[in-house]
Amino acid sequence: MATLKAVRGTRDLLPPETALWNRIEATARAVFARYNFGEIRTPIFEDTSLFARSVGEETDIVSKEMYTWSDGERFDEEALADEWIKRGTSEKRFFVEGAAQLNTYLRPLGIRFINHVPDQPEFVCFRPKATSEAVDLLLKARSDIKSPQLQQRYHADLEYLRRFEIKLRIVVPSGTADSATWIDTHGVEVEQFQNRTAVFKSSQSLTLRPENTAGVVRAYIEHKLGESGQLQKLYYIGPQFRRERPQKGRFRQFWQIGAEVIGPPSAGSESSLRDAEVLEMLATLLDELGITGWTLELNSVGSSADRERYNQVLRAALVEVAAKMCADCQRRAVTNPLRVLDCKVPEDQPIIESLPRITDSLDQESKKHFAAVTAVLDAVGVPYKLNSRLVRGLDYYTRTTFEFTHGGLGAQNALLGGGRYDGLSEALGGPKAPGIGFAIGLDRLVLTLQAADADQRSAPPQVDAYIAPLGENLNAAALALARELRRAGLSVELGDGSFRLKKSFEAADKIARRIVILGEDELQSGILTVKDFATGTQTKVPRAELARMLALPRRP
Ligand code: HAM
Repeated sequence: MATLKAVRGTRDLLPPETALWNRIEATARAVFARYNFGEIRTPIFEDTSLFARSVGEETDIVSKEMYTWSDGERFDEEALADEWIKRGTSEKRFFVEGAAQLNTYLRPLGIRFINHVPDQPEFVCFRPKATSEAVDLLLKARSDIKSPQLQQRYHADLEYLRRFEIKLRIVVPSGTADSATWIDTHGVEVEQFQNRTAVFKSSQSLTLRPENTAGVVRAYIEHKLGESGQLQKLYYIGPQFRRERPQKGRFRQFWQIGAEVIGPPSAGSESSLRDAEVLEMLATLLDELGITGWTLELNSVGSSADRERYNQVLRAALVEVAAKMCADCQRRAVTNPLRVLDCKVPEDQPIIESLPRITDSLDQESKKHFAAVTAVLDAVGVPYKLNSRLVRGLDYYTRTTFEFTHGGLGAQNALLGGGRYDGLSEALGGPKAPGIGFAIGLDRLVLTLQAADADQRSAPPQVDAYIAPLGENLNAAALALARELRRAGLSVELGDGSFRLKKSFEAADKIARRIVILGEDELQSGILTVKDFATGTQTKVPRAELARMLALPRRP
């Protein structure tokens, strides 16, 4: 049989690498706490229209990369049965006395036992349509009723049933009946039941989140977070999903650490200080993680009016040159000209460089806002590089946009990206709530740190002690000792009494700083033998001293 593997573009994260993931996440949480951010966790899937309306229909993410499915129309058997019984309560009612027992047997088959007309017991199967499977179930129920085992189990009901002709019926929503002969020949009747809407739940298009900003803003609106009048500073850590062509640093399930600052304008959410503070926090976080050599690329895409104006200018300029560009650019020139600036095709670069720049389309307000952001960055000493082509691949951005890139990442060189989205809340039907945020590609952060220190991947963290019981009768005592040490805060691995001493030493040497030998003598005397692998010394340690001694750092 072919073995199953993780789906292309997804992967398992295993120890010891997960230790690095945990360290990064813990550092991020600690930094976010210092900047007064609280954690938000939004669902992994959302209504598809949330992403269409925020990220934008024409973006690559929404038009080609989303994992979307129709959470299809569902047939609700309970609803049909309830409706059916409600409609004819006078005559269609459950035969309750004793039949409750029989129903527990019939229910798993999707069949109800009904006393339709007095003295005419009936098996009714409620279905989205009349199928041969439903007929088979009814026939099985009828023949099972006649089996000696069941006759014994449900004696009272069967006594009652034996006297009558048992009727078999399938109840289906109107318009879904099937007149196939197997229904007629088996004496099964089909009843079509009006009112489809009550028994089918309508479908909804759902999407695995390709990013988290839309979900955060949806939650901000849904929970009326703006009503507090406070600035909301929210961070998240979680998986995102995009059907992209997998390559180094690009996965179909990837992780983001992100944060959003959003609130009513009266709380200062529009202030350029927010932008500068977010960027300064990112520089601090990368520094604390030990990531060196990053570049902050910065731009302003202006207000939505500026963008609209620039779009027109760009569209007009592209009419002249698009025919000489790649197929994607030719399409984007018409559908979403801004995306042309993201093109990576080398031959297109000189043409793109000659196109009008968004910086020239900004109005005075946008220019002032951006100048204030860069002034604060200059004052606090966060270096940046202006890049007028940085328009980002999501449609909700206004004003400040940025990316932190890293040379070690190759083609997928963006460690993180973000920007301001002043009109997003309104676009989703919410109150005015300007905001700014970012998302770090956690997978790319890990790759960068691993490249900087290849050892982090290969060297497993060592446990403080390995306990080696000398005989299976000492296993319980060994676990008791391990429990004592673990409760004292030490990391401990446990051998097995069936191991030879040599095997215990070999196993311990690979994963532990020290080995603790637990034989009969040690147990009786309370004096344990401890070997330190770094120094090669072997010492006798009283049990009461053991935890303290094992906690001592490794000697050189
Ligand atoms: P984004 O630029 O689409 O922005 O993604 C942010 C970061 O996620 C990228 O810079 C990259 O590091 C990482 N990333 C994206 N796609 C992949 C992938 N397929 N595999 C691995 N890593 C990937 C956003 O998602 C915005 N929501 C950021 C934001 C927050 N803007 C405002 N607030």
